[in-house]
Amino acid sequence: MSQFFDDTEAVRVEGIRAALGAETIDALDNAFRAYLKGKSSRAGELKQRIKHELDRAAAGRALDEATKALEAAFAERRAQLETAVQAASLVRDRVDLTLPGRDYRRGHLHPVTRIWRELEDVFVGLGYKVAEGPEVELDWYNFEALNFPPGHPARAMQDTLYVRLGEPEQVLLRTHTSPVQVRVMEAQQPPIYIVAPGRVFRRDTLDARHSPVFHQIEGLAVDEGITLGDLLGTIEAFVHALFGPSIASRFLPSFFPFTEPSVEFAMTCVFCEGAGCGVCSKTGWVELGGAGMVDPNVFAAVGIDAERYTGFAFGFGIDRLVQLLYGVDHVKNLWDGDVRFLRQF
Ligand code: FA5
Repeated sequence: MSQFFDDTEAVRVEGIRAALGAETIDALDNAFRAYLKGKSSRAGELKQRIKHELDRAAAGRALDEATKALEAAFAERRAQLETAVQAASLVRDRVDLTLPGRDYRRGHLHPVTRIWRELEDVFVGLGYKVAEGPEVELDWYNFEALNFPPGHPARAMQDTLYVRLGEPEQVLLRTHTSPVQVRVMEAQQPPIYIVAPGRVFRRDTLDARHSPVFHQIEGLAVDEGITLGDLLGTIEAFVHALFGPSIASRFLPSFFPFTEPSVEFAMTCVFCEGAGCGVCSKTGWVELGGAGMVDPNVFAAVGIDAERYTGFAFGFGIDRLVQLLYGVDHVKNLWDGDVRFLRQF
């Protein structure tokens, strides 16, 4: 027997051992190239030696058998390794159906919107209806019908932005919610019990309690026999509904062109509990709003009989109220749009 047959047998035995010993598909591919693939592989070299053999047919058969045995061994090992890879990936990529779902954080209403709605609820509970008016208003409704004649010094306290529309200085961003009083009284006769929350605008410089854009809620009650006592009782009812019965409110004489007499009402400052601090300008009180009995001149402007009817009106800042309720020391914190801040409420 020639050396060829010993070498073929050696390639067969070693190749099978290399195939079965490969731990990875890469290692198996390397062994396959070394033993079976191409002219320079161990089997390829043997194939080129066949032509030098005396018994070429026997040499060819021997190499063919060895090649087949090697191919079978490589195929078997490949199948084993592929099965193992698949099993490993099944374990690795397993979907755990018992994991809890993703938790989406729910948003919530802005505190000013929430208190706005709570105020509506309190007053609807007292028998009031909710009314609305435009944010861009006519001078007639914002000032004139409310007894602020042109050039009246009280207009200067509510300086605003005028819109270039219609007659000069006749269209403006409303400075308070009081124009809604006029709109409602023009449209209907007493009895009237309405509240009108909304956004208002003034050329105020930003400070802890003042913002150039803010929110007010207006109240108006017109009926036979309405007195100042009804006004004070109504304001006390809402302060107690929001802050509880222990919070003090006070009324001081004041002036508004559209009410007579006029009062301004304030609550105990929640930051210092009345001791005096930076937020309440060291007074212990924070002003909430203004109020008073509807001036007969306003009734005359809207065509309501001032001999028969009396009424009260009030208006206060919703932003201011939210500051007091939640202890927000600067009004700008409410409008900076920082969700980390707003999330607290
Ligand atoms: C008025 O606006 C009157 N219309 C209130 C009124 C209604 C009186 C009905 C009588 C009858 P005043 O300008 O005081 O009044 O504002 C009322 C409240 O709005 C203030 O007490 C305060 O709570 C709030 N407010 C006023 N200006 C600002 C501002 N720049 N930023 C935030 N809140 C403000």
